[in-house]
Amino acid sequence: MKSHNVLIIGSGGRENALAWKIAQSKFCDNLFIAPGNAGTSILGENIEISVSDFTKIKDLIISKKISVVIVGPEDPLVNGIHDFLINEIKNDNLMVIGPKKSGAILEGSKEFAKEFMLRHKIPTAKYRTFNNKNIHEASNFLESLNPPYVLKADGLAAGKGVLILKNLNEAKKSLDDMILKKKFGQASEKVVIEEYLNGIEVSSFVLTDGRTYKIFPLAKDYKRIGVGDTGLNTGGMGAISPVPFVDKKLYQKIENLVIRPTINGLKKDKIDYSGFLFIGLMIVENEPFVIEYNVRLGDPETEAILPRIESDLLEILLQSKNSLAQTPDLKVSELFSSTVMTVSKGYPEKYEKGKIIFGLDSENDCFFFHCGTKKENQKIVTSGGRVIAVTSMDKSLKRALKKSYKGISKIDFEGKTYRTDIGFDF
Ligand code: AMP
Ligand code: GLY
Repeated sequence: MKSHNVLIIGSGGRENALAWKIAQSKFCDNLFIAPGNAGTSILGENIEISVSDFTKIKDLIISKKISVVIVGPEDPLVNGIHDFLINEIKNDNLMVIGPKKSGAILEGSKEFAKEFMLRHKIPTAKYRTFNNKNIHEASNFLESLNPPYVLKADGLAAGKGVLILKNLNEAKKSLDDMILKKKFGQASEKVVIEEYLNGIEVSSFVLTDGRTYKIFPLAKDYKRIGVGDTGLNTGGMGAISPVPFVDKKLYQKIENLVIRPTINGLKKDKIDYSGFLFIGLMIVENEPFVIEYNVRLGDPETEAILPRIESDLLEILLQSKNSLAQTPDLKVSELFSSTVMTVSKGYPEKYEKGKIIFGLDSENDCFFFHCGTKKENQKIVTSGGRVIAVTSMDKSLKRALKKSYKGISKIDFEGKTYRTDIGFDF
């Protein structure tokens, strides 16, 4: 196989971890990240282009002779970046990792995803979809469910489109806000109401060529801002991998009841899907249910799982262009990995940016994956809510976590905030 110029699209911790992994590949010639962050600038060349400026991305691909494009976030995929680049560039050697628009709708529309699961008998919560035409029927449906009530904006809402309400009146009012008052704009013109699943969440990831798939390590992320899983939902405050309670039997159920039927479903529906697929699961009494599909890798799960992968990721991505059928399973480290996120004070609500980050070059036993950072006057400063993801690996989860927390103590910025209890439930 020949080597390639690679472009990673995005600017978070996921993209920093991807850049770190891809830069090690013997098949990587030059690495570009658009727009990237201070962490990715050490691994490749950052190019200041927005993830939504498809035309500039196209020009960059042509001028830098890029042949592999890895799309990190969901927005460009849902908006058709894959189709755009393939149609505009017309070069058979160009490979875009991430589905076309027709596949990205699995994340772009919750209703589509639910119908897909129903059609292919993939276990998921009972649901109905409402809009301004049938909203009068919603009361009856809500009354048929037990609290709490789960309301999901159909479209993309920057991770904020899911509401979980404790009582019926709140649920009815929120439904009105979403559909009639367009709380999430166009994204909530349709709302999926579904049964609440009481269980433990697990994130599973696969890479697929549209016919077969490779399973990546499972992870668990910690979404709430506060200790003990309390407070507001965030993009993710930490992650661990593997997930201790998933034994062989449960793992097989996840593959047989969820992953395989999903890939077969894509084939049956003639959805030409390639790239990563993130299946968010709820494990209820040892049975997996799908909460959602995401058409990309998760953040911060990526920061926890990529360091465990010993195989050459770019080599596997390149093989997925033709077929993964002959590709051996991933080589995965037996070690536990833990990622603890440092965030800006106030996140996920209002927070300040531009705080100088100290200690990134301190001696440590961790990976410091940059999330919201940038270079300013030769200094690295905060530029987002999530700032640095600190990942460590060790023989036990406990030891890995201890290393991550030690790593966190080495870095500092004004308002540095983190959860002190990642992995607390194991
Ligand atoms: P999402 O934006 O789809 O990831 O949903 C946000 C969070 O809402 C998930 O991570 C779950 O914690 C929770 N959630 C979504 N659907 C359900 C459900 N049916 N039952 C319980 N919790 C849910
Ligand atoms: N960690 C959840 C996500 O990436 O959406």
